[in-house]
Amino acid sequence: MTAQLNPRGDVAVLVPAAGAGVRLGPGAPKALRPLAGEPLLVHAVRRIAAAPAVHTIVVAAPAADVESVRAMLAPVAPVTVVPGGAERQASVAAALAAVPAGPEIVLVHDAARALTPPELVESVAAAVRSGHDAVIPVLPVVDTIKEVGAGERVLGTVDRSALRAVQTPQGFRRSVLTAAHAAAGDPLTDDAGLVEKQGVPVVCVPGSEHALKITRPFDLALAEHLLAAGA
Ligand code: CTP
Ligand code: MG
Repeated sequence: MTAQLNPRGDVAVLVPAAGAGVRLGPGAPKALRPLAGEPLLVHAVRRIAAAPAVHTIVVAAPAADVESVRAMLAPVAPVTVVPGGAERQASVAAALAAVPAGPEIVLVHDAARALTPPELVESVAAAVRSGHDAVIPVLPVVDTIKEVGAGERVLGTVDRSALRAVQTPQGFRRSVLTAAHAAAGDPLTDDAGLVEKQGVPVVCVPGSEHALKITRPFDLALAEHLLAAGA
């Protein structure tokens, strides 16, 4: 059944989905590859659309696949699909430009985090709504982290207690994200990084293990198991 978005919602979600998926190995663009029989992007959009505050979803698709992505998502939820760019940052900028007037909270969410629960979309949006200009979901780092130099020689051990692994959706007051993208220089892989460069404070909220980024074949296998277990 096609989800309905909330016409009184205050959240637009941008979904960069135009990457190739090189680290997943040869095949279709990553967002279009199947997970338990459905493309990653379908899993991602279904969960975003289930978040009650979402008013608008804009997907940045591989340029050659815009029409097929529109057709693929039509039964899932009402979404706008635009062609993405060569870098993730360009894909996000293209999606941001397609957000209609209205939503004042903008979330940026990787299609590759296909099993992200709707509750995380809501909690990030709620933190922005409560007054934070920029919000990122994070998890503690569990492994010991070493800094390594030439010849794989260990230079030192990093204090793990001050480190966080960053996920998406990342949430922003709309004007803050728009200004950060307008001022953007070298492409970055995360939007909070652009906002940090503007001197805007970024705050962390608890992330979710289910928001893992499907990057390598192992992640895809893990996601299959999580889905089978009810994710
Ligand atoms: N992305 C995008 N446009 C790009 C590059 C990436 O929209 N030019 C999107 C991807 O589709 C993904 C998200 O950004 O949903 C996070 O990127 P990543 O996990 O690196 O995906 P890929 O770039 O597809 O993977 P790889 O780096 O292994 O090629
Ligand atoms: Mg990439």
